[in-house]
Amino acid sequence: MDRLQIAIEKARAKRGSRNSAAQIGPEHAAAGGDPWLSLTPIEIKRPMLERNRIIALSGGPGVAPYDHLRTRILQQARQHDWRRIALVSPHSACGKSTTAVNLAFSFGRQSDVRTLVLDLDLRRPRLAGILAQQSEFSMPDVLERRVPFSSLGMRYGDNLAFGFTMERVPNSAELLQSQQTSDVLSEIEAAYKPDICLYDMPPMMASDDTFGFLKNVDCVLMLAEAEKTPVAQIDIAERQLAELTNVMGIVLNKCNYADGLYGYDYGYE
Ligand SMILES: Nc1ncnc2c1ncn2[C@@H]1O[C@H](COP(=O)(O)OP(=O)(O)OP(=O)(O)O)[C@@H](O)[C@H]1O
Ligand SMILES: [Mg+2]
Repeated sequence: MDRLQIAIEKARAKRGSRNSAAQIGPEHAAAGGDPWLSLTPIEIKRPMLERNRIIALSGGPGVAPYDHLRTRILQQARQHDWRRIALVSPHSACGKSTTAVNLAFSFGRQSDVRTLVLDLDLRRPRLAGILAQQSEFSMPDVLERRVPFSSLGMRYGDNLAFGFTMERVPNSAELLQSQQTSDVLSEIEAAYKPDICLYDMPPMMASDDTFGFLKNVDCVLMLAEAEKTPVAQIDIAERQLAELTNVMGIVLNKCNYADGLYGYDYGYE
């Protein structure tokens, strides 16, 4: 059996156990009051955002595809009682991290929804870079219990928070499929009570990180790259994912021909 197959087998065996009662750990005990408000506020540098294709901070016609995706995600999440959503792709550069941040801001404009976005691409973390942020700690510090999430999490407004990863770690596959990671994620969820958790993952083909982690999620949103990702690869990836979790949908990213579909710029605001 290759590594991937072993990871799939392990994840299958462990699936089901993740819905056991969420543990209330140090995250909760330390919080007191609304724990979101004790997270460090983010200062957004707008010129950097545009350079990194982050457009969803404010609404408007150009943002419609992300807002549309947000609403579809929210509908499905509410319908199925899903909260934890991993952004995955068969190969690299399909746009997971860019989409995660745009979706984050799109969710952030929905004031009745609390959204937590964690950078779990521990091989090539990007979210802090895209948002031009620095963080003293990283997600592995939280997952390995060196610091609580309150020391890492950064918030934009009072209903959107990020957990950044600043540098790659060598043991990412083992860390992401450890029981401790499952426990810590449950503790964070119990303390912060997000409506939606988005996890930015590494590409499926690059490692077994994503497969090992999927026991922790309710569903995946798969991104593919228009004119680059072969249909057969999407098909195989979807089947592999469906063995382990729910496939919420497939987003064909970087479509050039979509202009006009969302171009309601002739009178709608
Ligand atoms: N909708 C889009 N249209 C055009 N370019 C895009 C789009 N989304 C992302 N990109 C660009 O594609 C590149 C890869 O994007 P991103 O880093 O978000 O992908 P990724 O799937 O997270 O990559 P990795 O697998 O390496 O983590 C970036 O240069 C980004 O700006
Ligand atoms: Mg990425």
